[in-house]
Amino acid sequence: MLKAEIHCHIEGAADPALIQRLAKKYQVDMSDIIQDGRYVWSNFTNFLNTYDKASSVLREPEDYRLLTYDYFSRLAAQDTIYGEIFGSSDHAAVMGIGYVDLVEAMSAGIEDARRESGIEGRIIMTCVRHLGPEAADAVAEQVAANPHPMVTGFGMGGDERSFDIADFSSAFATASDAGLGLTAHAGEFGGPESVIGALDHLGVTRIGHGVRSIEDPELVKRLAHDNIVLEICPGSNISLQVYSDFASHPLPKLFAEGVRVTINSDDPPYFHTSIEREYEIAKKEFGFDDATINDFTRTAIEAAFVDEPTRESLLKRLDNAA
Ligand code: ADE
Ligand code: ZN
Repeated sequence: MLKAEIHCHIEGAADPALIQRLAKKYQVDMSDIIQDGRYVWSNFTNFLNTYDKASSVLREPEDYRLLTYDYFSRLAAQDTIYGEIFGSSDHAAVMGIGYVDLVEAMSAGIEDARRESGIEGRIIMTCVRHLGPEAADAVAEQVAANPHPMVTGFGMGGDERSFDIADFSSAFATASDAGLGLTAHAGEFGGPESVIGALDHLGVTRIGHGVRSIEDPELVKRLAHDNIVLEICPGSNISLQVYSDFASHPLPKLFAEGVRVTINSDDPPYFHTSIEREYEIAKKEFGFDDATINDFTRTAIEAAFVDEPTRESLLKRLDNAA
């Protein structure tokens, strides 16, 4: 079955072995966050800190190119025809990598993988919610001032429990004026009000996670009516204990209510997952048949931040395979 993914953080996709190798090169001790070849963390806040520390050895554009190439090659090996990855210029900047160098390195990684396997990809530049609205404005301004054909979206990750979402509206307006697609993490650790805030103040067409929308029936109706697409990451939600088990995960209910859903891996090695495993979860844990799962892939391509000819060609590939 062909696959597509529209929610994955590139820093969060770094294999622990790659981070260990870079840590050795830059002489950083990672024994507190990588044990027995696995990332160790205990809760969402600690996960974000672990993620920041692991990212701190991505120090040269070549590290980002290699990471991006490695991730897209792995996606292609799992029959994925399209991948959209979040990049964080704030993380790169801490390590002295400038915005343009970051974008060129990530693009080169995608293009190297595309030449080998035919996989298509795009980049969504993200701001980090817990760094606040001013930092978000700076990221949006960078994106707008340096247009690049591979950067087609603007998003926001980080801790949605911090700052007032309305204060991020200027960053999203800047990105929207620059012609970028918009998405924001909401309804993961925040409740339905967090999703409502993202819709009302940021003008997004997609929501990262959004699963806790299920707690507000009116919001669920709004999502379905307005064709808002949820980038759902089931394995991530269980790992981070947003839900205790797949039986209590709301994806099937959201889908039954007419909400457009997609399945994604978020930060795969942190959650011991992959896009392949997420598709398996859709089948084995949620009981969806292949045709329905194929429709999730179609939704991802329909909602992708990509030009129309590329979208048409991806949809054709999906139809031909089915
Ligand atoms: N950054 C990386 N993974 C994230 C997640 N699951 N939620 C919010 N921000 C993130
Ligand atoms: Zn995410």
